[in-house]
Amino acid sequence: MLENVNIAFIGAGNMAEPMIAGLIQKGVEPNLISVSDIRNERLLELEGKYGVRPAANNSIAAAEADILVIAIKPQYFDALVPDIQGNLSEECLVISIMAGTTLETLVAGTGHAAVVRSMPNTPAQIGMGMTMWTATSAVASHQRDQAQAVLSSFGRAVFASGEHYLDMSTAINGSGPGYVFLMLEAMIDAGVQMGFTRPVAKELVLQTVIGSATYAQQSDMHLAQLRNNVTSPGGTTAAGLAALEAGGIRTVLSDGIWAAYKRSVELGDG
Ligand SMILES: NC(=O)c1ccc[n+]([C@@H]2O[C@H](COP(=O)([O-])OP(=O)(O)OC[C@H]3O[C@@H](n4cnc5c(N)ncnc54)[C@H](OP(=O)(O)O)[C@@H]3O)[C@@H](O)[C@H]2O)c1
Repeated sequence: MLENVNIAFIGAGNMAEPMIAGLIQKGVEPNLISVSDIRNERLLELEGKYGVRPAANNSIAAAEADILVIAIKPQYFDALVPDIQGNLSEECLVISIMAGTTLETLVAGTGHAAVVRSMPNTPAQIGMGMTMWTATSAVASHQRDQAQAVLSSFGRAVFASGEHYLDMSTAINGSGPGYVFLMLEAMIDAGVQMGFTRPVAKELVLQTVIGSATYAQQSDMHLAQLRNNVTSPGGTTAAGLAALEAGGIRTVLSDGIWAAYKRSVELGDG
């Protein structure tokens, strides 16, 4: 799918690196990957670590690309536009991972019709990302396959048929690691409060969450069934769950996700 395809990254920061690492792990030749960044030392670092090619500048990276990945912060996109406009080949596929930058803005800014907008998340750092992506109608079928291959190189990737799903995805998988880290902290703190050392509490909590999530992923059972299976009548889990429900845990989680969704829509409108 990505054989002999030149993939260029503009922006070689936190998110670009796991994408590059994932692509190479999936068999993409490092010399087919070029990187461009305003920080030259970062380019040299990535060249040394992965054998990728530093591009002389953004315009050259864009001109050489069969697939151009835009991985800078969204607020810098306007400044990047002159480097890209008029430099892309007609067959190029543009993939943006910039949060909140709409397809309309991307098409207008790049002057290019075949554009993918995606929402990855930070577990991409360890190849466990969850990315949702969508595309303009100008993205050809083979380019959709390429987008799926690029975006699943650092975790899972799911295509969304409409752009409005990207705001929802921002609230679930984009911001989701933040909610999960908060819950992990709270569980670990409770363990410490009961008397565990912090490292022991951390190990117990992390493995319980990883094990439960993996079990849920691999099981055919409904989540309620899995939960019922650990809830003996009059037992400890029943007592714990009753307290969590009394504290409004479902509503609080739901409210949090809705708040993130509304904020994403707001930022997109702004
Ligand atoms: N991190 C996340 O959790 C996450 C999740 C989903 C989506 N995203 C999206 O991923 C994108 C990248 O995030 P990141 O955390 O990887 O950002 P980052 O670490 O700041 O990396 C961006 C890199 O691009 C450089 N840069 C800025 N303007 C440039 C320009 N005009 N030309 C070339 N290089 C330029 C930056 O240099 P300076 O540092 O000198 O500015 C930096 O090295 C963002 O748009 C973000 O919305 C991030």
